Amino acid sequence: MPKTPFYITTPIYYPSGNPHIGHCYTTLACDCLARYKRMQGFDVMFLTGTDEHGQKIEKKANEAGVDPKKYVDDIVENFKRLWERIGITYDRFIRTTDDYHIESVQKIFKELYDKGYIYKGEYVGKYCTPCEAFWTDSQLVDGKCPDCGREVVDAREEAYFFKLSHFADRLEKLLTENKGFLEPETRVNEMVNNFIKPGLEDLCVSRTSFKWGIPVSFDEKHVVYVWIDALSNYITALGYMNDKYDDFEKYWPADVHMMAKEIVRFHSIIWPAMMMALDLPLPKKIYGHGWITFNGAKMGKSTGNVIDPFILADRYGVDALRYHLLREMPFGSDCAFSNEIMINRINSDLANDLGNLVSRTVAMVIKYFDGTLISDRESDKVDEEFIGMVTTLKARVEENYDNFHFNIALTEIFKVISRANKYIDETAPWVLAKDESKKVRLATVLYNLLETIRITTILLNPVMPNTTPEILRQIGADSEITGWDSAGKFGVLPQNVTVLKGEVLFPRIDLDKEIDELNAVLASQNTAGTEPVKKEIELAPEIAIDDFTKVELRVAKVVACERVKKSDKLLCLQLDDGMGGRQVVSGIAKSYEPEDLIGKKVMLVANLKPVKLRGVDSFGMICATDMPDGGIKVIFVDDDVEVGTRIR
Ligand code: MSP
Repeated sequence: MPKTPFYITTPIYYPSGNPHIGHCYTTLACDCLARYKRMQGFDVMFLTGTDEHGQKIEKKANEAGVDPKKYVDDIVENFKRLWERIGITYDRFIRTTDDYHIESVQKIFKELYDKGYIYKGEYVGKYCTPCEAFWTDSQLVDGKCPDCGREVVDAREEAYFFKLSHFADRLEKLLTENKGFLEPETRVNEMVNNFIKPGLEDLCVSRTSFKWGIPVSFDEKHVVYVWIDALSNYITALGYMNDKYDDFEKYWPADVHMMAKEIVRFHSIIWPAMMMALDLPLPKKIYGHGWITFNGAKMGKSTGNVIDPFILADRYGVDALRYHLLREMPFGSDCAFSNEIMINRINSDLANDLGNLVSRTVAMVIKYFDGTLISDRESDKVDEEFIGMVTTLKARVEENYDNFHFNIALTEIFKVISRANKYIDETAPWVLAKDESKKVRLATVLYNLLETIRITTILLNPVMPNTTPEILRQIGADSEITGWDSAGKFGVLPQNVTVLKGEVLFPRIDLDKEIDELNAVLASQNTAGTEPVKKEIELAPEIAIDDFTKVELRVAKVVACERVKKSDKLLCLQLDDGMGGRQVVSGIAKSYEPEDLIGKKVMLVANLKPVKLRGVDSFGMICATDMPDGGIKVIFVDDDVEVGTRIR
């Protein structure tokens, strides 16, 4: 019987900087799913790649003094090197600069134009003359160019538009009625209330203000909007409208598009609308996980808080890194990355629980049976509950892997591993070994442990593909009895199995020593960033201390937060300011999701004159900085500083 196809995609990454741990999570989650589905017998297509066009890349390449293609080539190689290093088994890698993709995007654009879903119009916005860049009102920072901070002028540009508004009703129905299309479900309300209900506008899908993009085939001064170019990768990589590949019919629609929450909007609104316009089936699922944060903000190149995955893989091993990331990220929420938590987890789960279980069991079979168990058995009632827990584990793990709850699947597996260690204490094999008449019981206990190790190891394979074959080798499980289905059966190992002693699987790490060493490595890697930076900065005229004290800065805590309707820039925050609370509107919606801020302490300009922004009252301002990529970073205050405290 032909295998059932299963199509999984990661977002295609911007090669604007080297990959970091944040990029690893999505790719690892997809890899785990791909390996799991392959083990279950599916015909998996796992796609990843790079999204190489756009003004941002063009600008970076210009700054580096190289041509954009040359600029991205080296970074793309680093992504590929990283995926190889951490064991990513993608089946296809697409670059949006690949010829076949360019050809397909041009045809898709033309098809949408011919069908009347793309039309020519006028893009009205602001223009920054020195930067040669167009901006929409909502992109401006304090009414000025977000890149250079200078004045902008009104401008008009001829552009093509996609009739996104035409699909509003169908999209709302899709999101609200098709349960499971967008997950976690909380993101559905966010999309419907913040983007669809306030009114979907047609989308500007071409630019003439820069060159680094795919030219519109019938009007070459325009390049295709980068999101139309990028999203199309999911079908061009299967051969849609090109001859490079020929498996569109087989794999489309995708079983899951996996990504972090900030790009769910593009995937759950623009992408299905494009599919509707092209009369193609819709993807089956969009899954938006949380962010890996570090020092309180999304880990990312622009915030400068990235952790190099190569260093972690070299120091702790690829499987430990894979395990940690998949074990820590909770369903739908963010996950704070910490070296300490990672090392503690390696020590407790991998070295103590799993590593010890394997080494103790193998050592006992060698010590008490010269490495080969006898075939006779004698059960006890303590076995029943234990074996029941082991035999039902596969179903619990499948349910959670299928729903991308990798952390829960791993928790379930490690519950059984802990239970097995407890079973050793309960049955005390070393006591049984002293009494020749208990030999059969002793063999039974050790066999039950070996079977538990076999089953948990098979279920762990998608997460730890390098270590699991070694564990199976040590417990004498040859490849015929390590298939996925065999994890649902207890008693598969031969009764007279022979074990083999092996290396320590996960050496314990000395936390304090390791943290010092790791920090030294990370610091030496970043020495360039620790030297004082010298930039030409024009300071405002000098002020006296009295001038400064006129500004009353106080610590406040965000207790609630939501988007301001019809604005993609503003968030409305409710603050506990120690004075009974107040509302502040802040232009940070492009850099933060409302839930990212709740519970955080911020610097409040408490005596600022109230203003109305988009009709919403704002009583003060929270302090933030502009980032070089146009993003904004809020200045957070340590949690142990009380609300209401004055900042001087
Ligand atoms: N190029 C677009 C995607 C186009 S898909 C048609 C893009 N690229 S990106 O390089 O910025 O990467 C986005 C993806 O990288 C996120 O959606 C997420 O999957 C992953 N991550 C990048 N930083 C991350 C964290 N700090 N935490 C978790 N995932 C993050 O957007």
